[in-house]
Amino acid sequence: MGKNPIVPFLLIMGLGIGLIFFMSLYGLDQKAEISAENEDGEDVEEVEDFDAASFADAKCVSCHGGNLEGGAAPALVGTDMSADELEEVIRDGTDGGMPGGLVPEGDLEEMVDYILSLE
Ligand code: HEC
Repeated sequence: MGKNPIVPFLLIMGLGIGLIFFMSLYGLDQKAEISAENEDGEDVEEVEDFDAASFADAKCVSCHGGNLEGGAAPALVGTDMSADELEEVIRDGTDGGMPGGLVPEGDLEEMVDYILSLE
């Protein structure tokens, strides 16, 4: 008996089906991340490709002013708060009008680093 000529086709079909499964699972995962980004609230996870500068442009400048140099809310540029203090305020917000939960939990550190890098 020679090789069964059907085998390579079955292999390729198997690969194709595997790929479809992989892509749909991957898509679901991305969907979760995108909705987390839009939710503005609790239970937000890490946003893929989080970019602190554009995130701040979208979510912070309305109160903290262009370039975060101060507006209705205090300037973040040149802050003398420590990284821990910044993280706490951004995560929990304040009674003084800073809303908590804007930045996804997993991206807090990056946001803090970004603020501390501003001059
Ligand atoms: C709805 C308006 C508003 C938005 C949007 C907002 N903030 Fe604030 N933020 C405030 C106010 C008001 C304060 C002052 C709170 C206080 O003194 O209790 C504040 C305070 C802060 C502080 C403490 C600064 C200090 O010197 O006391 C940090 C850090 C901060 N915000 C970061 C951010 C970041 C990062 C974003 C974007 C993800 C953001 N804020 C979005 C209103 C806002």
